[in-house]
Amino acid sequence: MSVIENSKLAIVGAGAVGTSLAYAALIRESAREVALYDINSAKVAAEVLDLAHGTQFTGASRVTGGDDLDVVSDANVVVITAGARQHPGQSRLEMAGVNVEILRDLMPKLVKRAPDAIFVLVTNPVDVLAVAAQQFSGLPPARVFGSGTVLDSSRLRWMLSERVGVAISNVHALIVGEHGDSEFPLWSQARVGPISLADWMLARGASGSAATGSVPFSEAEFESISDEVKNAAYKVIEGKGATNYAIGLSGARIVEAVLRDEGAILPVSSVLTDYRGVSGVALSVPSVIDASGIARVIDVPFSAKEQALFEHSAATLRASLDTLGL
Ligand code: 2OP
Repeated sequence: MSVIENSKLAIVGAGAVGTSLAYAALIRESAREVALYDINSAKVAAEVLDLAHGTQFTGASRVTGGDDLDVVSDANVVVITAGARQHPGQSRLEMAGVNVEILRDLMPKLVKRAPDAIFVLVTNPVDVLAVAAQQFSGLPPARVFGSGTVLDSSRLRWMLSERVGVAISNVHALIVGEHGDSEFPLWSQARVGPISLADWMLARGASGSAATGSVPFSEAEFESISDEVKNAAYKVIEGKGATNYAIGLSGARIVEAVLRDEGAILPVSSVLTDYRGVSGVALSVPSVIDASGIARVIDVPFSAKEQALFEHSAATLRASLDTLGL
């Protein structure tokens, strides 16, 4: 991977997520310049220095930033991580109101300074905020979207790769829907290498449920993995107060797909128009990401159960948007 000439990534919010994203972007050389903005002057200045001090070891990227919103000027990608954080036991949807108001103020100011940028929401509840940011910016949904279930899909792939003993890069599985409690895995499309997950045989040792031989995943195992993914963030927040590294890496991956004009398929969250019958809410579905933002969403075949879960996710989001007047 090589850094893209003149590419600028601006990150709004220098908290745990924003700085982890900046760190991941530097190490992965996701952009030529990484600019960090925060209202807390002392904190953002210190974070910029701390990151800059390590750039001998990170390649060609450089770090800038401060408490003046002009630091985002002419960015190619603006990632928004600013907002109230999730407390232990609190759902992502419970944080909506305050973060919507932050965006109402912020979006027009950001668009003015970076009029050609692709805007990526990371702040939660990300699906609600993707709708809010799209409305407040007046930009098309292809240019304002959320990190969605890119992280949850990585969690799913990691859990599956541990169980099947295959490299995570060869496990192809997606979480779709809400980045939150109504999300679900697209089991019908999951594969390990060229083999459908439904056909994958698990070798059972003495500690497995069968003493010998090979058996497929059971429904109970699918359910348990699905719950484990759904509750992954709660578990991390319980232990350390926030999630930051994995979301930072997920955000950097999305940024690269845009800045390198990759055409990569990632499950980001954008305002949908008649996607499997769902319109007007932002949910994560596999999307082709390139320099234009979302080049297109991919129409995946759903099983009847997946279709019902997707509609449930859409209804959950719609209810939340209605209470916020969005
Ligand atoms: C996460 O899933 C909390 O949304 C954040 O890690």
